[in-house]
Amino acid sequence: MAKEIKKIGVFTSGGDSPGMNAAIRSVVRTCAYLNLDCVGIYRGYQGMIEGDFKPMDARSVNNIINKGGTILKSARCDEFRTPEGRKKAHDQLVSEGIHALVVIGGNGSFAGALLFNEEFDFPVMGIPGTIDNDILGSSFTIGFDTAINTVVGAIDKIRDTASSHNRLFFIEVMGRDVGHIALNAGVGAGAEEILIPEQNLGLERLLDSLKRSKKSGKSSSIVIVAEGDRTGKNVFELKEYVEEHLPIYDVRVSVLGHMQRGGNPTCFDRVLASRMGVKAVESLLEGKSNYMVGIRDTQLILTPISEAIKAHTDIDEELIRVSDIMTT
Ligand code: F6P
Repeated sequence: MAKEIKKIGVFTSGGDSPGMNAAIRSVVRTCAYLNLDCVGIYRGYQGMIEGDFKPMDARSVNNIINKGGTILKSARCDEFRTPEGRKKAHDQLVSEGIHALVVIGGNGSFAGALLFNEEFDFPVMGIPGTIDNDILGSSFTIGFDTAINTVVGAIDKIRDTASSHNRLFFIEVMGRDVGHIALNAGVGAGAEEILIPEQNLGLERLLDSLKRSKKSGKSSSIVIVAEGDRTGKNVFELKEYVEEHLPIYDVRVSVLGHMQRGGNPTCFDRVLASRMGVKAVESLLEGKSNYMVGIRDTQLILTPISEAIKAHTDIDEELIRVSDIMTT
């Protein structure tokens, strides 16, 4: 029989993402609604090991739905990778009387949760929070929509100056090993080329495409480069390469960096986070454990964490085709 759950711990882990606060708020308010105690665990697994806990009631999450970052802070924790670290974390949870966990994070955070569940039979439920949108079992992760809108806004601004000076810009965007941010923001901002890890078309094609651009009368160009791109050259090396082979171009580089992780979440991310928080708590109460809440079409679904962490979500081939057509 499933253990009775009266107190739930919630934490954020790994890289923060806009909408994590909305997810925390949702978990806390759902607990309040269902007369459960809720405890915020600060700094992810590190705070769990150290017993950095704070009881949270419905009012403790006032005015955070609109805020980027995470009020519970986040961390990447090496100690939790060790059996001793996980044992310490378990002892802290038991002494605090916490019966189940909701982890808001990405792949690494879920892998830790899975291990923890296997070792201590501790109920866990995952909510995907990362700007990378790389988690199997959800078409969207919390923070992705905000991040691509932030990136599009930044590219729009760069385009203004690029076109004023007839320049070519290489813009590096985040996404770790996947190209979802690059492809979506690239199409949304009308980039001339998008380099993503899932599709290495080689440098020749880049030169050809830039030559064609010039020939067709374009005076400025934007090339989006996913940080995990596999051409073998980073944005600065790409700049040198193009300057060497196509001296006609005046090239500049912009690395957008961590600004992509900040900012107020979009309405989409706030609603997604609110829905996922409710589903996570309700699923734990139904006796489910070791699942991640995800969204497919418009429906919330549960995927075993063991499946969710197996691979990254595939890139959208149709969107690649659209991007190819749009760059003619
Ligand atoms: O996973 C989110 C992410 O922002 C990736 O896109 C990026 O590669 C990484 O985190 C950066 O991590 P950190 O903030 O630890 O440098």
